[in-house]
Amino acid sequence: MKTSGGSDAAKRRAGESAAAEVTDGDVVGLGTGSTAAHAIRRIGERVDAGLDVRGVPTSFASRELAADQEIPLVDLDRAIGPDAPGIDLAIDGADQVVTAAAGDAERAGASADPVNALVKGGGAAHAREKLVDAAADRFLVVADPAKETPVLDRAVPVEVLPAGRSVVAEAVRSAGGEPMLRAAERKDGPVVTDNGNLVFDCAFGAIADPTALSTTLSATPGIVEHGLFVDLADEIHVGTETDVRVVT
Ligand code: 5RP
Repeated sequence: MKTSGGSDAAKRRAGESAAAEVTDGDVVGLGTGSTAAHAIRRIGERVDAGLDVRGVPTSFASRELAADQEIPLVDLDRAIGPDAPGIDLAIDGADQVVTAAAGDAERAGASADPVNALVKGGGAAHAREKLVDAAADRFLVVADPAKETPVLDRAVPVEVLPAGRSVVAEAVRSAGGEPMLRAAERKDGPVVTDNGNLVFDCAFGAIADPTALSTTLSATPGIVEHGLFVDLADEIHVGTETDVRVVT
């Protein structure tokens, strides 16, 4: 899996800090990526020591890792919905996250009051991640300082129905973005998501209004889901080489 950001030690501190928030009886959303993987491994250790939890994986990769850790699993469509147990908390990584600690916000053109916004989807898992993270009572983001920014400016991953590829590319251009079809790293051809779709990484430059862009992308036929997560995060656990900072 493609990873981004800072050191593994920092990612591990973030993941383990969020995993410490899991309590007995919880249904836990299990995010995707190298930082969330640290949380899953720590939850696995705690299950081994007697913690009673059920995990809801957000991807094939997180399902495999959680199964290796012998974390009992529940399917997404059995966890969310009428008569379902719901998700107590979700722990997931990010490719970029707006925080006040990310330098001189004013100089970067950001408002003094930072928006609650992330870019996700570096692992092409953002459609299921958004379902799980949005459904959770608490959504804990796990990140390292390399992910922090005053203004989102990473390309936004957009999962697209293969048949809608051209029409979505045009819609992204009309919204001011430049779409790039994500290519598979180790074989010829495009990345195909766990849902059988394609991914465009869409460069918009600095995203002054993530809420407006999120609304535009969500309203575009052919887009299954996009990687802007606005107003979803409850806490951001930022790991460093020596410590963890929790931003609320
Ligand atoms: C997957 C994601 C990941 O959480 C995101 O790419 C961060 O990954 P990592 O922790 O490996 O840097 O959104 O779709």
